[in-house]
Amino acid sequence: MIVKVSSKKPEKNIIQKAAQIIKMGGLVVFPTETVYGLGANALKAKAVRGIFKAKGRPADNPLIVHIADKRDIFRLAKNIPKEALILAKKFWPGPLTLILEKKKIIPFEVTAGRETVAIRMPANKVALALIRASGVPVAAPSANLAGKPSPTNAGHVAKDLGDRVDLIIDGGKTKIGLESTVLDLTQRPFAILRPGGITKEQIEKVVGGVGVWKAGSKSVVKSPGMKYRHYAPKAKLILVEYNNKAEAAEIIKKLIRENKKQQKRVGVMAVSETRNSYPEADLVLTLGSRNNLKVIARNLFKTLRIFDENKIDIILAEGFPEKGIGQAIMNRLSKAADKIIRIATSN
Ligand code: TXA
Ligand code: MG
Repeated sequence: MIVKVSSKKPEKNIIQKAAQIIKMGGLVVFPTETVYGLGANALKAKAVRGIFKAKGRPADNPLIVHIADKRDIFRLAKNIPKEALILAKKFWPGPLTLILEKKKIIPFEVTAGRETVAIRMPANKVALALIRASGVPVAAPSANLAGKPSPTNAGHVAKDLGDRVDLIIDGGKTKIGLESTVLDLTQRPFAILRPGGITKEQIEKVVGGVGVWKAGSKSVVKSPGMKYRHYAPKAKLILVEYNNKAEAAEIIKKLIRENKKQQKRVGVMAVSETRNSYPEADLVLTLGSRNNLKVIARNLFKTLRIFDENKIDIILAEGFPEKGIGQAIMNRLSKAADKIIRIATSN
């Protein structure tokens, strides 16, 4: 069932009803500032198993625990470094997830057997009201089927999970559109396991240099979520780096022609500056202006889904500079891609 709430002043009776479901061990989908989350009582192993089942999520991929009060970090984690508190003070509520040593109260179902737990306080009134009313921390992955683009509105959730959940709270479109940054504080130097809503530059201003865990690197898989193909539409996606405008556009045009010859329906994911460059494509969708990466981030997952709705076989996607939120955008695009075409910088 889907129920609409006011994102500014969430209706108390709806929040109470949803909280009751969480307390009883059920599944409630709720909006956050990043993407929609599929929530359950993080202290109940059985409820948490329900999340994995509903999403079809691999059992070795741990969940983020959401809290509504910064101090709850002390209930859930131990040996907390002082930087955790500084980061929480600066960025919570907000799109930063901290990996810390877990306390016993967190069942291993949440952490996929690990001794560490991921914690974040979301910056969304509906999410905070729900967690508070539940009286328990809420474990929640993104509310999509495993492997699909994360949902940025309630319609996406309904399509993916529909009647697999007890309640979907519709709080409108999410503001950021990409998931939180996952920062591991249990290793030194600290390491970003997943780039997201808070940028590396923002974190480094507060705690100094941090490492970035690169997908595909040979080191142990630190963030299990990053090893799977992810965020992927049904269509095949080819990502073309865009550090040389002229060359990138030529490559995309050539790929359009080649694929059209094979009777494929070809889509291009462009920006407002390039939207008119690809008249031969079946569908050109614009993410926003290249000068505003925040808007690009907000529109990315939604746009991938629109290509699927239009039965596009192959998506040719322009790349973005890996600066600021651009790191998270390129991370998601790379994870969604079947192929990445690299272009040497020349201008
Ligand atoms: O913005 C977000 O983070 C959204 C909203 C709903 O809060 N949630 C989200 O959850 O994106 P999910 O499950 O889709 O992604 C969680 C990521 C995965 O990459 C997972 O592997 C990693 O966090 N993670 C969770 N616990 C971990 C742990 N103990 N150690 C390392 N990585 C962990
Ligand atoms: Mg996810």
